[in-house]
Amino acid sequence: MKRQNNIIKNYITYSKKIFLHSISSSYIDAMIFPFNIYTFLTSPEDYLLDLQTKHGDPFPLSFPGAPTIWLTGNSDLAKVVFTAPADSFKTSDKNPVGPLLGKDGLIMQSGSTHLSLRKEFIPNFSKKSLSPFSENIVDTFFEIHQNHGHSGVLFIQEFALNSALKIILKFLFPHLIQSEMEEAEKLTGNFLKSYSASFLFIPNWVPGTWKTFNQKKNELDNRFYEFFLSGVALGINGPLSSLEGSSKSQVLDHIRTFIVAGHETSATSLSWALYYIHQDLYIRNRLQEELTIFENRSKNDFLEILLSNQFLDSIVQESLRIRPPVPFVTRKIINRAFIFGDQKLNIDDELGVCISLLHRQPETWPNPSEFKPDRFLDRKYSPYEFAPFGGGTRKCIGAELAVLELKILIGFYIKYYQSELIGTNIPRPEVMQITIGPKRPIGLSFTKRIF
Ligand code: HEM
Repeated sequence: MKRQNNIIKNYITYSKKIFLHSISSSYIDAMIFPFNIYTFLTSPEDYLLDLQTKHGDPFPLSFPGAPTIWLTGNSDLAKVVFTAPADSFKTSDKNPVGPLLGKDGLIMQSGSTHLSLRKEFIPNFSKKSLSPFSENIVDTFFEIHQNHGHSGVLFIQEFALNSALKIILKFLFPHLIQSEMEEAEKLTGNFLKSYSASFLFIPNWVPGTWKTFNQKKNELDNRFYEFFLSGVALGINGPLSSLEGSSKSQVLDHIRTFIVAGHETSATSLSWALYYIHQDLYIRNRLQEELTIFENRSKNDFLEILLSNQFLDSIVQESLRIRPPVPFVTRKIINRAFIFGDQKLNIDDELGVCISLLHRQPETWPNPSEFKPDRFLDRKYSPYEFAPFGGGTRKCIGAELAVLELKILIGFYIKYYQSELIGTNIPRPEVMQITIGPKRPIGLSFTKRIF
């Protein structure tokens, strides 16, 4: 009886959330955007697949006011893009997240400036230097875990966004005390919420969009520069240490770049992974069994177990394959004409790799719509077949951190929660703020496991 009451209570909580979601943004988008932009925002993966089916590969992607981008979902052409000499391309002028990043962050840089900046940052993002940070990720999991009761409803996206935000801020500002960290979370939340990639299609004069965004950006910048300086004074500045001596605006553009590039991407991947683990009980039970076989071990022993678990690793890879948060990466041609499949592209033309299509090539991925982690246990894939983090000289600098974060959060979640999906809705990928993810809330009815 008590179990039945709980199920009903959880279902009501979930239904309320779904109702609130359904009366929000998509309908506004439908009213203000032309049909092709609306279709892209609400069904980006299908939209890209339709273009490829219609035009062949490579295929053109174009939106009003933005240059046409020639995209490929084919691994041979992906190799052409990712192995081209660094001086063949520059970063695209119209980056949908450009306004969040500013001009000086790593993503907006090109050529030798880009390469030398990367060189300075890379040591802080290596597997070895990230290893001590694992404990901060575990602590973050327990901070959030404490805030949940013994049982109830957990909304996957909230859990994921919350964890990823705390983790990226702890990574950038390891010296902040708790009250400062809370302030940093609030400022970042307000700043990110004040922007949406769809703003790019909205002119400056429309009230309430750019003005609020600029205000939230200034608030974040003022306080985050103080945080940076206090880190310098203490001699603790984690990955930002190479920026001592840079101008204020450079420092802030880098900070915003790491936050923007590292927050929603990681959260979206975590949301998909938790969804797919729960939509197939065999996968959830197998993972739980493999990870909790030595139940009474300490946190550190458990960390070691989960980090070396191959099945968990394959779940993370398969989630990034089936639902890559970044659907395509782009480059702008700078110094010579470029043969791209059957297209001859010229200087200033844009091209790129469509990751969501690359990850569905049937020759490489049989039954690509099925979530099958074992495919990563059965064989290895080249960096031109599997590229959730892009590739070449621009490959995601935070890839190791993202995978570490995903493994730890999933591993600890599976150990400490017994949960099942509420409802039978299959979440659709949609354009979130900057990535492609499940917008409609996904609820888990959970009971905590006690050790
Ligand atoms: C699952 C999570 C993540 C995914 C799927 C992801 C994906 C990507 C992709 C596709 C790119 C573009 C690569 C290209 O153009 O070839 C990129 C670049 C980048 N990412 Fe990530 N990322 C993730 C997490 C992170 C994290 C945690 C950080 C930082 C702490 C980060 C920082 C960056 C930066 C700075 C770049 C620009 C690199 C450059 O231009 O040299 N990312 N990411």
